[in-house]
Amino acid sequence: MKKICLLCLFFYAMETIAQNQISIIPQPQSIENRSGSFIINAKTKIYIKNAEAGKSASFLNSYVQKMYGLSLQTVADKSALKLHAPEQMIVLSINKSLSTGKEAYSLDITPKAIKIEGVDEAGVFYGIQSLIQLIPIEKNNTNSFSIPCVKIFDAPRFTYRGMHLDVSRHFFPISFIKKYIDFIAMHKMNRFHWHLTDDQGWRIEIKKYPKLTTVGAYRNGTTIGRYPGTGNTGTRYGGFYTQKEIKDIIQYAGERYVEVIPEIELPGHASAAIAAYPELSCFPEESTKHPEKTAWTGPTTGKQVQQTWGVFEDVFAPTENTFKFLENVFDEVLSLFPSKYIHIGGDECPKESWKRSAFCQRLIKEKNLKDEHGLQSYFITRIEKYINSKGKQIIGWDEILEGGLAPNALVMSWRGEKGGIEAAKQKHQVIMTPGEWMYFDHKQKQKEDSVTIGGYTTVQKVYSYEPLPKQLNAEEAKYVLGAQANVWTEYITNPNKVEYMIFPRMSALSEVLWSSKEQRNWSQFEPRLQYAFKRYSFLGWNYSKAYFEEPIK
Ligand code: ACM
Repeated sequence: MKKICLLCLFFYAMETIAQNQISIIPQPQSIENRSGSFIINAKTKIYIKNAEAGKSASFLNSYVQKMYGLSLQTVADKSALKLHAPEQMIVLSINKSLSTGKEAYSLDITPKAIKIEGVDEAGVFYGIQSLIQLIPIEKNNTNSFSIPCVKIFDAPRFTYRGMHLDVSRHFFPISFIKKYIDFIAMHKMNRFHWHLTDDQGWRIEIKKYPKLTTVGAYRNGTTIGRYPGTGNTGTRYGGFYTQKEIKDIIQYAGERYVEVIPEIELPGHASAAIAAYPELSCFPEESTKHPEKTAWTGPTTGKQVQQTWGVFEDVFAPTENTFKFLENVFDEVLSLFPSKYIHIGGDECPKESWKRSAFCQRLIKEKNLKDEHGLQSYFITRIEKYINSKGKQIIGWDEILEGGLAPNALVMSWRGEKGGIEAAKQKHQVIMTPGEWMYFDHKQKQKEDSVTIGGYTTVQKVYSYEPLPKQLNAEEAKYVLGAQANVWTEYITNPNKVEYMIFPRMSALSEVLWSSKEQRNWSQFEPRLQYAFKRYSFLGWNYSKAYFEEPIK
């Protein structure tokens, strides 16, 4: 008996050691530990068996070059390989019969070779991401790294695995947008929702309407501290992305299998557009209002870009002029973004202006609409029709359910899960992004060092999120494509704080979205999370240390 116990202990210890070597987030579907290791050094070659694996080879090569100073030779011609010993090879290939689902891969490491097969290009890329996580995170003098032998098969649970970033409240440079896309890709996530317009700044160049960026991209000041604030900075703030920069970002993301989804907010959150083109408002002659309890810089008459946070009454007027403007804007947006989805906002549109406007009231009668909610639905449906006519699908925040859902719209459920449940029951596609779990602007510890918007969402809370609500049956649940975390930036003024707010919560989210429900286990995740903290430091990514500072709730 004693012997059996000792044996059990021994196997337990061996298993722990083996598992300690394999610390991948998100947890792969299956891991088979093997003995031995593969050595990566300057002689290692990457063999691209199928040309489609080329982007993945480039990613691996630039990673090892940047992090370890290693430059690996890439070969596409098999005959070149005969010259070299097989143990120096990382073989990348496509194997369409690997799985019935998309994005699956196998990673097979023996002392002789590393073989990565992807069911498609993205699959190869995710195999590379797992391999990268197996490379030790210490540099050594010999530049020779030992990778544990292992066989992995892996595939994602959800097709939509997203991160959002608000660049209107605060603007982030292209270099950081690229870094953010790397965060997404390295977590095997695949959508970047780019919130490009809002009351506090219009951030995308539209050639037909230059004032959107000469006027709409800048505000004269910004609230200091937590709303209503202790004053106003008094300094002009802003910025925008040129179409050339946007194309560069889309290409960069594409090389990492990340789809960039632009958001152009309508009919609310439109103050910046209205500041540029006042005729888009129901009341072009009225000056922009701001809450009296907030401080203001610069002119208080005329239309102005907002300087503080919240929801504002001056929204797009549902006139033919506005629809023409939006169609022209979308023509440029659609020609830039290859994404199937275009986010049109639809959230937090106050109805006061439409109530006061004789034009809007006439339109409600003329179109036989029930009320201002019906008018919102009319607005969204018209825009949807235009975007559908160009072969694209709209995404809207869950308010687009009010007054009737546009026929083909995908709903992003943010005010809890209710909107998502309702939309799935109506056979509409859904992305879950409920505030309680998925708002990464919430604080991560009770006493944050800097201002946050409110809410309290720990890494464990994120990890506990289940994107398929119990209220949906199996058929309805098929409409839920996945989930997304949102990063609103009222109180996130710089890239370092974005990193602080998303890590480690993004690592937890990646596992929610990629790994199977059965594999999701907090106590099994925690040791890998500990290792992830070390990886963040190695990679130079900032992160919150709340996990170490407060007991997890
Ligand atoms: C939102 O947070 N207003 C979608």
